[in-house]
Amino acid sequence: MRFLVTGGAGYIGSHTCKALAASGHTPITFDNLVYGHPWAVRWGPLEKGDIADRERLDQVINQYQPEGVIHFAAYAYVGESVKDPAKYYRNNVGGSLSLLEAMRDHGIPYIVFSSTCASYGIPEQIPIPESHPQRPINPYGQSKLMVEQMLRDFRLAYGIQSISLRYFNAAGADPDGEIGEAHDPETHLIPLVLDAASGQRPHITIFGDDYDTPDGTCIRDYIHVSDLAQAHVLAVEALTTHQPVQPAYNLGNGQGFSVKDVIATAEAVTQKRIPVQIGARRPGDPPRLVGDASAIMQDLGWKPAYADLTQIIETAWRWHQQQPYSTQ
Ligand code: UFG
Repeated sequence: MRFLVTGGAGYIGSHTCKALAASGHTPITFDNLVYGHPWAVRWGPLEKGDIADRERLDQVINQYQPEGVIHFAAYAYVGESVKDPAKYYRNNVGGSLSLLEAMRDHGIPYIVFSSTCASYGIPEQIPIPESHPQRPINPYGQSKLMVEQMLRDFRLAYGIQSISLRYFNAAGADPDGEIGEAHDPETHLIPLVLDAASGQRPHITIFGDDYDTPDGTCIRDYIHVSDLAQAHVLAVEALTTHQPVQPAYNLGNGQGFSVKDVIATAEAVTQKRIPVQIGARRPGDPPRLVGDASAIMQDLGWKPAYADLTQIIETAWRWHQQQPYSTQ
């Protein structure tokens, strides 16, 4: 089937395009290339455009007649969203509305949406189930939650079927080394730790070691990007084949690793000493975020293939060594 993949030139989007192609589908990437990379689009056409540009969306939809949409295109810097919320509401919420209206007007009935564990805010319960209250503590998480709510209303009013996938910490790279993480600026822990391992940064700063966790550093649920990608394929196929689904699923490993665990594992994988400094807490960081992904395992048969932190860091390291953050 043909799927329009907004943000298909980005990190998770490009891995999903590869997984779609491996399952016999055609991904049509629609990306404004603000953060995405043309070199990451290898498994289908690239159409440059912004989801807020309704005319351009109409053109591309008319040309390819996609049967469904996988929607990644969004800004995703939590700190920036606090400083410049307008940018997040305009792009993530306004852009999604434009896309959803285009889907309604063209009669495209299926969408898988890239949501986030940041929509839960500070968790009251670990692991976090999908039924956990959603009280985001920053505009980024709020913008994703608002789109989840729009999807609910578009389902009821216009019959657009959707699944929101709430990711925990996406990490790692394509095990074949064809694509990987290349954010600019980079803020995520694993690529920064690998920069410190390879000497591209003098050290990694741990944002706080006085949290109420066993080693004092924050705990996160790292999930391999190819496992995330596979979940999108299962989700969109479940929609197009009318399987019974929940409106939203968590995507995590159900296992938490601290910042110090990540650094120690990276030292073992890279065989390099990683210099560490202890810094202040980063505002808005919950001490512990671990997801319960049993629902998607049960309903869609999803099973992570790279659940182990060592495997995740090994794939990231392979990518890091061959293509260190090329932004061309
Ligand atoms: N960290 C450091 N030093 C760094 C970078 C990160 O100690 O230089 C720590 C953070 O404080 C955090 C952990 O490493 O405890 C992971 O940080 P990331 O920035 O890699 O990821 P986040 O957990 O902040 O981000 C993830 C998703 C976001 C989502 C957010 C919700 O990537 O999309 O969770 O809190 F919004």
